[in-house]
This record gives sequence, C-alpha cells and structure tokens, in this order.
Amino acid sequence: MTLNPQRSTLNAPAPRHIAIVMDGNGRWAKRRFLPRLAGHKQGVESLRRCLKACAARGVAVLTVFAFSSENWNRPHDEVSGLMELMGKALLREVPQLVHDGVRLRFVGERGGLSAGMREALAQAEAATAQGARMLLNVCFNYGGRWDIAQAAASLAARGEAITEESLHGAMAMGHVPDPDLLIRTGGELRISNFLLWQAAYAELYFTDALWPDFDEAALDAAIADFNARERRFGRTSEQVVGAEPPAC
Ligand code: IPE
Ligand code: IPE
Ligand code: MG
Repeated sequence: MTLNPQRSTLNAPAPRHIAIVMDGNGRWAKRRFLPRLAGHKQGVESLRRCLKACAARGVAVLTVFAFSSENWNRPHDEVSGLMELMGKALLREVPQLVHDGVRLRFVGERGGLSAGMREALAQAEAATAQGARMLLNVCFNYGGRWDIAQAAASLAARGEAITEESLHGAMAMGHVPDPDLLIRTGGELRISNFLLWQAAYAELYFTDALWPDFDEAALDAAIADFNARERRFGRTSEQVVGAEPPAC
C-alpha cells in the first residue's frame, strides 16, 4: 500500500465504482455445520447490507460476482440451489430495489441459462430500469475471458475494427466506467476470471473476511484503504499530487 500524506482519508469521497468477488459463503456455512446453500442464503443478506451501505456512501456503481462461468463445475445440487436462490431473491428484493432507486443489470452469458431464468433476469431489469440513484451489476454466468471473446466476435461480425475503445464498448460491462476498487472477500489472492479487462487499473483489496461476514465496518476499511492509495495511472508521484486522475 502506498500512503499519500497529501490526501486525508477523512471525509474522502467514496470510489465511484466498487466491484466485489463475494467469496467465502461455503466456508461460512461449513464452520457452522450448515449446508453450503445456507452460506449462499446468508450471502444474499450480506449483499443487501452492502448495497445499502454503498448507496449511503455515494457509490454510483456496485458490481458483484455472483456466479462464474467456472461455477458450473460445482456439484449439481449446489448449482441448482444457486439458480433457485437467485430466482427467489429477485422476487423478494426487486420491489425494494425499485423503491430505493437501484437499477439492476445482469452481466454474463444468458444463452447458458434456462428460459425461466432468462425471463426472470429480463423482468427484474425492466422493473428497475428507471432507478437513478445507483446501479447494481450482477455478474451471473460471467467470465472475463467470455466477455473479451464475445466482444471481439461481435465486432468481427459487424466488420468493425478491433481497437481498445471498440472492444471496451462491445463488452457486457461497456455501460459503466472501469471499477476503481476491486474487493475480494474470503482470503484467496486471485481474481478467478472476474473483470479481466476492466480491472486494468483497479485498486485491489483482499480481505480474509468471509462474504456473509463482510459488514459496513469491513466496507469502510476497504474504502479507507483505497483512499490512502495514490493512483498514478503510469505517471510519477510528483505529477499526480494535486492533479485530476485521467478519465478511464
Ligand atoms: C462464493 O462463495 C459464492 C459463489 C461462488 C457462488 P463460495 O461458495 O465459493 O464459498 P467458499 O469459497 O467455498 O467458502
Ligand atoms: C469466484 O469464487 C466466483 C464468485 C464469487 C461468484 P470461486 O470460489 O468460484 O473462485 P475459485 O474457484 O476459488 O477461484
Ligand atoms: Mg469460493
């Protein structure tokens, strides 16, 4: 961590875009001698709390990793339990999201999901489309490699040149600026195919806290750590002090 003595972390603005690998649900359950799905259920509660805390701190975009391209490799019961949990969570949470002005977007490969699930995701997106306070991207059946490949394929199919800008815009995450802060809970020091392109200049923050235990204080600790860093974007420290960060 690079401390920037010029910058106070008191009253510092929250990052504009926070991305989170919500990991550790299974271990949270195991420690309590509960089935893994109980950990995933608790993970939904933790997401609700985190979303509320982000909104209160002025975060504009929260992007969470809910189900990876690789999570299909889990036991069938766990995968079907996760699908069912997503359906139930949407039914329960969408009215509150509408009330709170949160727009929901699903990011990932829809073709790999059941017709019923695709319909549920589309309905939730439509119901929350007017939300202007905050955007919640839920990466579901998502992989960073998938996103880069599908963006390149769609540009090629349209006969468009492949440039950094065109690729960025063609990605499933093309509707938001890159994440400023990428948090991973659960103690693993890897990104597991999350936001491979968009995390190019994200500040990385790893915590041992399991996702169901990641509370407001843990979020504030991550934000304080972020605010104490110096984001140089390739420049020197002398250039950065007092200057605005470049748009990315
Ligand atoms: C993350 O928690 C949630 C998903 C991948 C769906 P895990 O289920 O990976 O929890 P651990 O890593 O086994 O504790
Ligand atoms: C990453 O967690 C995916 C999600 C949080 C949805 P995993 O638990 O699947 O990651 P690995 O397998 O340990 O890398
Ligand atoms: Mg895990």
